[in-house]
Amino acid sequence: MEIVMAIKAVALKDGPYQVEGALDELELTDADGNRYELASKRRIFLCRCGASETKPFCDGHHSKIGFQAAEAAVKAEHQG
Ligand code: FES
Repeated sequence: MEIVMAIKAVALKDGPYQVEGALDELELTDADGNRYELASKRRIFLCRCGASETKPFCDGHHSKIGFQAAEAAVKAEHQG
């Protein structure tokens, strides 16, 4: 029986996307189709704030710029 590992992506609160699981099955490329090597990694963090200097990966800059994820901004808008 073959066990199929899923890939799970979680939008962390005011931070990156945490992606884990069968990363050797995930094809992550740049705009030119060049693949990022992920097979040796158990978990990656993808920037969603736009401030990372190591895109597409998070380098922690979201904390320095006070990034607030869109879903938090939308909730605040509806509460105010
Ligand atoms: S989400 Fe961490 S640097 Fe952008």
